[in-house]
Amino acid sequence: MKSLLFSRFLLLLPWVLIVIIVLDMDSSRAPLPALSPRGGAEGGSGGARPPAPRRRPEAGLPTIYAITPTYSRPVQKAELTRLANTFRQVSRLHWILVEDAAARSELVTRFVAGAGLPCTHLHVPTPRRYKRPGLPRATEQRNAGLAWLRQRHQHLPPPQPGVLFFADDDNTYSLELFQEMRTTRKVSVWPVGLVGGRRYERPVVENGKVVGWYTGWRADRPFAIDMAGFAVSLQVILSHPKAVFKRRGSQPGMQESDFLKQITTVEELEPKANNCTKVLVWHTRTEKVNLANEPKYHLDTVNIEV
Ligand code: UGA
Ligand code: MN
Repeated sequence: MKSLLFSRFLLLLPWVLIVIIVLDMDSSRAPLPALSPRGGAEGGSGGARPPAPRRRPEAGLPTIYAITPTYSRPVQKAELTRLANTFRQVSRLHWILVEDAAARSELVTRFVAGAGLPCTHLHVPTPRRYKRPGLPRATEQRNAGLAWLRQRHQHLPPPQPGVLFFADDDNTYSLELFQEMRTTRKVSVWPVGLVGGRRYERPVVENGKVVGWYTGWRADRPFAIDMAGFAVSLQVILSHPKAVFKRRGSQPGMQESDFLKQITTVEELEPKANNCTKVLVWHTRTEKVNLANEPKYHLDTVNIEV
């Protein structure tokens, strides 16, 4: 009797083991909780899986306002496309596009409508006398962005968590950069690649404080930093209503210092990107396109926006 029971047990054992293994494999394959894409259209996933509970992890995040001056040229749409492809992946980013033009262009208007992220489309022309080589660019456009931001928040009660960043249309931005700048308390800084005649420029940090600048160009600048190298909290922008970019007496490369010294000091700066040891943004510049073979008069049978 005992041996019969034992042989039955031996017979069943492998089957029991197989069932246990199969069950285990199934549970390890169970779907992970779905992270819903930011701002994307909900639904339409087509599966039988019940919808994941609506989680809004970005709800408490400060908004990042990116002010981008832009002007009409053959590469404009390509530049804006690269930028939108980056910004679309950033939670709670509000893009303030400011055209250097007397009116909104059709190209940018159409582009903004299809960009797939929150956009404000402004325009202001640079006065002719300032459109000369050797003079700072995009002064009026950045100021228009600042004015819009101040106006928008004038009547809202504090706190309004937000971070402002000047994003030229030709630079290259990593997604990590936005995580870094999001925690800006007053003014934060980080290295910029491919600028100042060097592979990078960076704030030099000692004991968590900025104590100087690693740069190959005009080291005498109070803030030897490119426009792409800092972010400012919305509170600082609102509490310094007069801080703007100035034409009078401004030289190229001094716009950043002229602006920053109105709102902060070097000692106050918050170093980001691992104490300013990582390059997360590049001051890339797009080559001027060769249009030598472009016909003088329209020859194609269709009209194509490029
Ligand atoms: C460098 C800095 O990175 C800029 O932040 C600074 O504004 C500029 O110098 C300057 O000299 O003022 P750089 O690559 O030489 O940049 O300048 P661009 O990229 O040609 O222009 C900066 C921004 O202004 C771009 O977003 C561009 O689209 C815009 N821009 C330029 C205009 O809106 N209008 C113009 O006529 C030229
Ligand atoms: Mn540039």
